[in-house]
Amino acid sequence: MSDLIKLTIDGHDVEVPRGSTIMDATKKLAIEVPHFCYHERLSVAGNCRMCLVEVEGAPKPVASCHWPVNDGMVVNTKSETTKEARKGVMEFLLINHPLDCPICDQAGECDLQDVAVSYGSDRSRYEEMKRAVDDHEIGAKIKTVMTRCIHCTRCIRFATEVAGVEEFGATGRGENMSVGTYVERALESELAGNMIDLCPVGALTNKPYAFTARPWELEHADSIDVNDAVGSHISVDHRAGQVLRIKPRECDEINEEWIPDTTRFSWDGLSNDRLTAPVVNGRASNWNKAFEAIKASLKGKKKDKIAGLAGNVHCAEDLYAFNAFMKETLGSESVDSRTDGFGANGKNRSAYTMGTAISDIEKADVVLLVGCDPRYEAPIINLRLRKASAKGAAVFNIGAEVDLRYPTTELGDTVDVLDQILAGKTPAAKALKSAKNPVIILGGTALSRGDAQAVLKTAADIADKYDVVTDDWNGFNVLVRQSGRVAALDLGVVPTGKGLSAKAIRDVVQGKKMDVLVIYGEGDIPVEDLKGAKFTIYIGTHKSAYAKMADVALPAATFAEKSGLWTNAEGVVQLADQAVQPPLQAKEDWKIFRALSEQIGEALPFDTQTQLRHQIAEAHPAYGMIGDVLQTPWAPPGKAGKLLKAKLERPVTAFYQTNEVLRASKVMADCQAEKDTFDANKNMKKAG
Ligand code: SF4
Ligand code: SF4
Ligand code: FES
Repeated sequence: MSDLIKLTIDGHDVEVPRGSTIMDATKKLAIEVPHFCYHERLSVAGNCRMCLVEVEGAPKPVASCHWPVNDGMVVNTKSETTKEARKGVMEFLLINHPLDCPICDQAGECDLQDVAVSYGSDRSRYEEMKRAVDDHEIGAKIKTVMTRCIHCTRCIRFATEVAGVEEFGATGRGENMSVGTYVERALESELAGNMIDLCPVGALTNKPYAFTARPWELEHADSIDVNDAVGSHISVDHRAGQVLRIKPRECDEINEEWIPDTTRFSWDGLSNDRLTAPVVNGRASNWNKAFEAIKASLKGKKKDKIAGLAGNVHCAEDLYAFNAFMKETLGSESVDSRTDGFGANGKNRSAYTMGTAISDIEKADVVLLVGCDPRYEAPIINLRLRKASAKGAAVFNIGAEVDLRYPTTELGDTVDVLDQILAGKTPAAKALKSAKNPVIILGGTALSRGDAQAVLKTAADIADKYDVVTDDWNGFNVLVRQSGRVAALDLGVVPTGKGLSAKAIRDVVQGKKMDVLVIYGEGDIPVEDLKGAKFTIYIGTHKSAYAKMADVALPAATFAEKSGLWTNAEGVVQLADQAVQPPLQAKEDWKIFRALSEQIGEALPFDTQTQLRHQIAEAHPAYGMIGDVLQTPWAPPGKAGKLLKAKLERPVTAFYQTNEVLRASKVMADCQAEKDTFDANKNMKKAG
């Protein structure tokens, strides 16, 4: 029996795999069939009936989204019968639909509105009262207008099947059916915003964006998410120089079509509380005066009394320029980007990137997490792990207890469990032994302590013992949380020679023995611990505590205000386009370092971003291959040593507050408050 089925649709022959639906076959021929409840990444519900088509021999039109194809089937998607059937469905859908289009945020990008143009009637035969449904208050992210709901159940299926947080459902039947959270409360899911994109009507809309703009007024910049290291594809929608919303772009290899809520709802943080002019000694100033103050501070200072710290959210060009400025212009060797104490130094990519492609994570059959909470460190990767779990993968966790929304076996919160696994003990050892596609994921928490090298070495030994890395499968992963981390290590933003590490720089600063400290963006060292240098320069985007503490603060650009190369956790280099200009006197970061180097008399050897990119690509070929997955050749990382007894800490304690843009966002503050309430209630219940 052939695995392919031949059928004819609108006179065109097509072959599709056995088990496909008519909808699948129409897609192959690029024939458009109107639909509301069908979505290719969700299970088939078959409840809207908008996708009716005529099948020869069938007594009445059939729903193409769940009708299986048969050999020799003849389908007509454009016949009069089909059109009449769809018009009938549309008439029923519109019976209770409000005449809201002029005041509906979905107008202009509404599936119901679009389909109504082809199949709707210009008058109604319905004379009874229209049904009205109460709206629900479900938190800071989503606005509901439930009278517009057409009961397609996409939101319910997303919450249940994809996000794994079963907080959306239908109550009542027929006329009284209502979709929402069963008990009115804020949504818990960190991915809830995706329901807005899935809702084919204006029942669930973006609350912070409400009544801001119409879709046809917006321009779109293809960008990359920088709130974690996944590198999700996003569109930054803007009008008149202002970012007005952020939506996902489809990318099957990385984020499919989902993004976390931190990415979707934090755009107000791009404009709130910005540093818009250089600040000298606490007073707004200008570039000339700021440069003069910096030059004066550097006069006669010894190179070993100058240090630089790079923060967590920087693109490759900016990191390269910062590193060159610190090391070549200022001659400092004490430059570091690992403000959390991360143990890898950039020499072996296996120690700081993922060996498994993000899309292959769902093929895993055994997963061992070490000091990693993928739900809050990389929600998109957690979705892939959830898919693996749904297919039967066993997931083991070493570290603080996690709620990943799929079954997890907790193995304890100290890394010495790794020794037990290596010795063949614990259920994880047994599972790894028989696994076909085993995956180990080490999180930043496990690699930011004194035993980072020992953890890497023990994990690499486990990988060796249980064939986690073979010729056709690399299941060894280090999952970093910071979007700038991989680029910083690739480009060598680490100390050289006798230079100090970030933690040592902190100690010297606290001992009041540092002459000049250059802080480029916020990292993980609290600002209180960095007070004490004789002169502090801060280059950043917001009026944060770091900017306030510095002697000179220089205004830089956020990711939306510049074009940049971002390297994700897999090591893929991706290009983000500029959406808007930096505000007022703020400048793109690399330009600041270039201009400052010239003022100091040691101009960096590039004048344009193109020249800068060429230099980076020459020194680091991966940066000339934008978008390509470069398989990191496996080199077992780490050094033998003693594993610490100390407990692994929770990697993320405030998911909505992990960087300066998120902290400047009022929406993120509301989301964090809702999450804190939710967590407190959960803990109270647990405590009984
Ligand atoms: Fe109009 Fe669509 Fe809004 Fe309904 S959901 S009022 S059809 S724009
Ligand atoms: Fe469908 Fe939207 Fe109603 Fe959910 S709220 S069932 S996505 S129409
Ligand atoms: Fe087929 Fe809804 S799309 S029934």
